[in-house]
Amino acid sequence: MTENKRFIQTLKGQVTDRPPFWFMRQAGRYLPEYMAVRKEAGSFLDLCYNPDFAVEVTLQPLRRYDMDAAILFSDILVIPHALGQHLEFRQGEGPVLEPVDDPEKLGKLTLDNLHDRLAPVYETVSRLSREIPSHTALIGFAGAPWTVASYMVGGKGSPDQAAARLWAYSDEKAFQALMELLVEATSQYLIRQAEQGAEVLQIFDTWAGNLPMEEFRKWCMAPTKRIVENIRARFPEIPVIGFPRGAGPRYPDYVRETGVSAVSIDTSMPTDWARENIQSLCPVQGNLDPLLLVSGGPALEKAVAAILDSLSGRPFIFNLGHGIVPQTPPEHVALVSEMIKGYVRS
Ligand code: CP3
Repeated sequence: MTENKRFIQTLKGQVTDRPPFWFMRQAGRYLPEYMAVRKEAGSFLDLCYNPDFAVEVTLQPLRRYDMDAAILFSDILVIPHALGQHLEFRQGEGPVLEPVDDPEKLGKLTLDNLHDRLAPVYETVSRLSREIPSHTALIGFAGAPWTVASYMVGGKGSPDQAAARLWAYSDEKAFQALMELLVEATSQYLIRQAEQGAEVLQIFDTWAGNLPMEEFRKWCMAPTKRIVENIRARFPEIPVIGFPRGAGPRYPDYVRETGVSAVSIDTSMPTDWARENIQSLCPVQGNLDPLLLVSGGPALEKAVAAILDSLSGRPFIFNLGHGIVPQTPPEHVALVSEMIKGYVRS
């Protein structure tokens, strides 16, 4: 079954009739039907941990746009939560965690209850693998250790991840211990998702871009490489997509060092550069600016056409350079979906 899906074929290095597409954060607040389920669920975490609701919101964007892939509905922060860190999503504020910024707090986190606490997520994956259309691929995901650690140490999102960067510089040994814990938890989590039917795994390193080269090696590439190795030991063939957002000219190093099967490129990446320097190594996914999906109009159509023309001659998955934002008009998503479905390579 898996073999006939455009998305999987592309990840295996083939050029299909037209590029497959999906959108990061394709399930979410821009859809009124998501808001309705979100209200019924109560909190955002209740939505993530209720398989009935989580399956439903995963399927909602497929019904409208028939993407080539569905992404499990969950969040990258369920890992710290399952390790025992207090987590809340506050309205208008985003995630708030009890900061883990010294060895004593780190010592309280444990792998012991990981799979019990994540059981509802595994149930969601398993149901989705049976319920999605036969031409659609199912993506499982996790945050990369660096990005997850940046929330764990800082206690919230921040533009520069200062708390995590400072801890990593001032007490490298303790920070390394946190990263070890995350490599282990994330590897086990992704392997379980694959066991339950995820056909592709994506690793989100949203905050990789702020790391200097030495730290990029230590905290972005090295942990990701170990996770990829752990996954491959159990599932040698499963495609793994990396998203080291903001990695810039380090994208090719990231591909070579980590062993990922494909990369998602962010909005800042020039597509012609990506074609020559990244797509020569592996399939590429990206990279429409999510704000063009808000604006619509000629600027949107021109950008979509330019990306398709630049990247679709080699294995390419159309996506955004970062997630869909809540103010996106659903009809703009429809327009882009139709443009890709009707695309004929020149
Ligand atoms: O459709 C999908 O892409 C699947 C679901 C998904 C969510 N988050 C749902 C979500 C995925 C893949 C993520 C990944 C995620 N979560 C990342 C990495 C990718 C990225 O966007 O950078 C990060 C950094 C997070 C952490 C996170 N979750 C933040 C910072 C926030 C608050 C900001 C915001 O957009 O509100 C969330 C909340 C969140 N995750 C929402 C959704 C749909 C909105 C919550 C709500 O409905 O109230």
